Amino acid sequence: MDLLSIDSLSDDQIATILDEGDRWAEANRTGKPANASLAGRIVFNLFYENSTRTLMSFSVAAHRLGAQVVTLPVEHSSARKGETLEDTARTLNAMRPDALVVRHFENEAPARIAHIMDCPVINAGDGTNEHPTQALLDALTIRRRFGRIAGVKVAICGDIKHSRVARSNARLLPRLGAEVRLAGPPALLPDDFQGASDVDAAIAGADVVMMLRVQRERLEEDFGDAPGEYLARYGLTAERLKRAAPDAVVMHPGPMNRGVEIDSAAADDPERSLIPLQVEMGVAVRMACLRLLVGSAA
Ligand code: NCD
Repeated sequence: MDLLSIDSLSDDQIATILDEGDRWAEANRTGKPANASLAGRIVFNLFYENSTRTLMSFSVAAHRLGAQVVTLPVEHSSARKGETLEDTARTLNAMRPDALVVRHFENEAPARIAHIMDCPVINAGDGTNEHPTQALLDALTIRRRFGRIAGVKVAICGDIKHSRVARSNARLLPRLGAEVRLAGPPALLPDDFQGASDVDAAIAGADVVMMLRVQRERLEEDFGDAPGEYLARYGLTAERLKRAAPDAVVMHPGPMNRGVEIDSAAADDPERSLIPLQVEMGVAVRMACLRLLVGSAA
């Protein structure tokens, strides 16, 4: 089994990942479990794009389960000598890893690799397509705060066009009963997307305000805003957050552009910001994903 997209998961598998993630979250808080369920297994990390949270949390998750982690330094690999993605996958497959975690700048690259690899392949973000484990950790974060996901109103705001996080969340959260509203500047909404450009309207009454980074590396031309203009029109400020529900929370997958899509008052609000909790849930959810995939491949 591979984990390539939200739709590749059954309802039962999603429930298992969230429930088990919840248990790992508790265990990680209290005394850091010595769990050996993946002892002797080897997890490969193959990241063609920069990462802090995703790369580290997959590695920590594997270590906490007793697996060994090997990370290919892609910048120093044969990819730089012109080796194709498929040939790299064939090479890695011959070393017989027990799982491969892959991030790539091209949509569907993990699916291409999955055809070649004999072990489970986990999509850690492909281009503008999907980032399924991020959506799973976001769902678990929401559930831990509100005790439920059904009926929770989630405003996802910002650079929707380039966001694999938005795409995976827009598939997962409604499946779990949440109401998802997408909004952002017209130039950063997908061409086929009928959603609103009014961030204020999306935030009004929302329980969760999830802000997205402006993905400058994927913009064809620079956005050209005067400094402060994006924040004033589309970003999350303490003032704009007042439109949300009284007990609303702030989320952001990271990395943040402070002063662009979010100001520090909103990002660091000790009552409302769930950003550190998202990172914590990232380890827990990835432990559950690794066990589901690598355990079943045994
Ligand atoms: C996101 C990603 O890489 O898709 N970050 C993450 O995994 N936490 C979002 C982003 O880069 O803006």
